[in-house]
Formats: sequence, C-alpha cells, structure tokens
Amino acid sequence: MLLITRKMPPAVATRAAREHEVRQLALEGVFDPAVLLENLACVNAILCTPADKFDAVLIAQLPASIKVIATYSVGQEHIDLAAAAARGIEICNTPEVLNTATAELALTLMLMAARRAGEGERLLRAGKWTGFSLTFHLGHGVAGKVLGIFGMGRIGRELAGMARGLGMTIHYRNRNRLPPELELGAHYHEDDASFLGAIDFLSINAPGGADTMYWLNAKRIGMLKPGAVVVNTGRGSAVDDDALIAALRSGHVLAAGLDVYNNEPNLHPGYLELENAVLLPHIGSATVEARDAMGFLALDGIKRALHG
Ligand code: DGY
Repeated sequence: MLLITRKMPPAVATRAAREHEVRQLALEGVFDPAVLLENLACVNAILCTPADKFDAVLIAQLPASIKVIATYSVGQEHIDLAAAAARGIEICNTPEVLNTATAELALTLMLMAARRAGEGERLLRAGKWTGFSLTFHLGHGVAGKVLGIFGMGRIGRELAGMARGLGMTIHYRNRNRLPPELELGAHYHEDDASFLGAIDFLSINAPGGADTMYWLNAKRIGMLKPGAVVVNTGRGSAVDDDALIAALRSGHVLAAGLDVYNNEPNLHPGYLELENAVLLPHIGSATVEARDAMGFLALDGIKRALHG
C-alpha cells in the first residue's frame, strides 16, 4: 500500500490509484508525525512533500514494511538520509523536471524585485496611484548587469540561460568548477569575496542542509556591492534572515525576491514590513507541467524500489 501525505494533482492521484492501493492523507500545514504513524499499517511506500519532516526519530519508528519514501521535491534535506539508509529504506526525489519552472520563478522574482513590481501593485490597489510621471517608481534594469548564481546545478544553469537572453553576464560560485560545455562562458569564482564583490544580482540556487546553512550572513552581505539585489528560490536555510532584513532596511541590499524561508510557513515577520521585499509562498515548482512531471517521477521511483 502507498501512503500519500498530501493532496496530489489529479493526474498524479489517478496514476497512483491505478498502480497502488492508496491511503490518501490530506495533511495541511505543519506536519504532525503522530498522524503519519497512526496510518502506516500495511504501508510499504510513502509519497511525501518537503513540508513533511522525516527526522531520525520518526524514521526509527516507521514499521519494517516501509521500503521506500519518495519526496515530491528535488530537495531532500527534510529527510534524514543516513537514518533511512540505516533502516534500508530507499529515498527517491524528483530532479530535472522542475528546473524550468523554478528558474522561471527565480527570473520572475529578480525582475519583480528590480522593477519594484510588488510595491507598485500594492500602491495601485491601495488607490494611491496619481498618474503617469517620469520620476515615479523608478527601478533598475537587468540588461548589462551581472547575475551571480550561488549553486550552478541544473536549476542554476537553466536560470543562467534565461538571464543571458536578457543580456546579463553570468558569474557563479559552486562546489566545483563546471566543464566548459556546462559553464557556457560563465565566470567561476573560487571564493565568496571575489564572487559577491563582482555581481549586481545574487540568485541562491543551492540545496539546503548543513553545507549551506546561513551562507548569506552579515559578513557575506557586506561583501556585496551596495545596491545588489538578492533572490532565493533554493532554501530559506541558506539565509540569515536578521542579516538580510537589516541590509534591506539600510538599503545596502536594494531589494530581495524570496520564495523560500526559514521555518516555513512562519517566515520572519520582519520581511512583511519591507516594501523592497517581494515575497512568494514557495511556488518555485508550482506549475501544472512541473507538478505532474514530479509526481510521475516519484511514482516511477516507487515502482522501481518496490518491484525492481
Ligand atoms: C523542491 O523540489 O525541492 C522544491 O523546493 C519544492 O518543489
């Protein structure tokens, strides 16, 4: 039996029901492991989301019947992989098929932040627009600017391709330098200081987890050029919120576009007060196309893990 933690897109739910006996939970909001544990009789596969935290304590309590946990995400930091491996539980995720959707959203945030789109819309809806003016609501263009991508994996490279189309130059920071056929002329930096000092826009596309925890802290923000724009569609944990909020308040960071947060869905309230922060609710992969493809990939992984 396949246990599904949250409501799925219809096409994915239909295929899941064709291939498995399904126990569909419809969890919402903050994940409660107790509810999951009550529903695991006869279950051998779990399809979960990044909002469902499978830490070592929960994994230790899973029944021996569980052979695979598939997560409806590329990110796996919500699952204790070592604990799962120790129990012989296979983990599968959904890389690749969300690259375009997530890169599109990073681009959306970058343009919205630079052109003050959220602020403009709020102003208009509040009835405060007094008409066309040559000096009103000036933002900044992206053409001719340098985009710095932190985490030049599949999504980062997709974003680089889109940004080149807008006339941006690409710099990147990554665990390793990419081969020329993937780098496509992007400038690799071996250290954070040279990277952050060279860019006008920073896009965080790195995975979450211990390696990137609070990577964008006060010290690194200080290395950014004054007036840089910060975008995050990777993981909230890569950002020290207090430091970013202070920099947005002071104007050292001109604007931010964020889709992911520490402690989702309860993001730092300081962001909500900032006109220069564009805030989206973790919708990087939320296109019909990507979400269907992710679900199908997760089901493929489950099938492989259960039946070889
Ligand atoms: C992922 O895949 O990790 C996204 O954050 C959720 O779609």
